[in-house]
Amino acid sequence: MAKIIGGIGASHSPTIAFAKDTNKHNDPAWAPIFEGFSHIQNWVKTNKIDTLFMIFNDHITSFFFDHYSPFTLGFDDAYVTADEGGGARDYPAAKGHVALSQHIGHALVADEFDISFFQKKPLDHGFFSPLSMIADDANLGWSGTVVPLQVGVLQLPIPNAKRCYKLGKSLRKAIESFPEDLNVAIVATGGLSHQVHGERCGFLNEAWDEEFLDLLESNPEKLTQMRLAEYAELGGMEGAEVIMWLIMRGALSDQVNCVHRSTYAPSMTNIATVIYEDTGAPATPEDIDRYRQHIHYELDGAQNLEGTHPFTLEKSQKAYRLNHFLHQVIVPEHRARFIDDLDNLMQEYQLTQTEQDMVRQRKWIEMIHYGVTFFVLEKMAPVVGWTNPEVYASMRGQSLEEFQKTRKVSMQYSVAGGATAKALDR
Ligand SMILES: [Fe+2]
Repeated sequence: MAKIIGGIGASHSPTIAFAKDTNKHNDPAWAPIFEGFSHIQNWVKTNKIDTLFMIFNDHITSFFFDHYSPFTLGFDDAYVTADEGGGARDYPAAKGHVALSQHIGHALVADEFDISFFQKKPLDHGFFSPLSMIADDANLGWSGTVVPLQVGVLQLPIPNAKRCYKLGKSLRKAIESFPEDLNVAIVATGGLSHQVHGERCGFLNEAWDEEFLDLLESNPEKLTQMRLAEYAELGGMEGAEVIMWLIMRGALSDQVNCVHRSTYAPSMTNIATVIYEDTGAPATPEDIDRYRQHIHYELDGAQNLEGTHPFTLEKSQKAYRLNHFLHQVIVPEHRARFIDDLDNLMQEYQLTQTEQDMVRQRKWIEMIHYGVTFFVLEKMAPVVGWTNPEVYASMRGQSLEEFQKTRKVSMQYSVAGGATAKALDR
């Protein structure tokens, strides 16, 4: 059974990655940063941590304002470094624990958190700055696995401190009900006090930071009652990202043992490293059983409906490559090559032989069984001259005529627009 061994708090300022990449270990101005992180590195090693649940915010790198979500859980098998403008860091990808991500995703949604999910997104310094300092191998990176939770804190409104704390409580139950034997640490990143924009940029409040750390350890409930405006006033507007630390604290039991705590404010951010060991009792087998049933309550049985194939995180991860390839037909150039240069195009997207055959031979139902969502099939259909009813008929193993007899009115239609729509109006 997975077990939460403890919680880690660490700032994620780009300074940290910069210090590491430019080898500032022995420079007195930078050494305290390495000193702080060395405690975390040792603790993680000593406690044989397998998986780091990383709570961070992206800095408008991979998560832009075209679709901005409050809580976004990664469920990928690998996470690479993002290019934040000056080129990506030369640092190894982090290995994702896909099954744990999926389990936590199901659990949080069952607990009524409207989580978003991501795959194939490079991650920025919010994630990799602290991870590269915690990693047990300087060159090979973190040898264990990760589950990333991106919290959108940079476009207001955002979830409040209390919501973060409650999410942490559910996260605890989710992890404790995961069947694999894993030592998990919850890593909260960000903060402490800082402000990087506007006339107030450079604001720091070390006294508040110490008080925040005191309260986080012994009276987190008090922190959940604070409004975002109060966090901004005391710790700077960007420093208000410390509400993410309440997710970590919520995932620990009431009683924790702080085995390391340090802060260092050399420039713009008060850089903190803290470690809390979880001293609470683990969940009972009865609690775990009950929670597992709760997680699966909504979907239980849907997978047994005849001819029904619910599109789950599991399918989405497994069949991402093919879904992505088919989704790309919304781009005119891809669509044109889909018609004129399909073999080369499929090879460029590294589709397997099975995947290529299904596309080439219009194996609609096989693609559904494989994990393709219908909603990219109906995008592919007009590109290859099929209407929706023709795809429906094929999936049911019928001729178009047989299928139309099962409808009140015989109709042909498609999601295509313009000239393609007119051509398919037959
Ligand atoms: Fe941040």
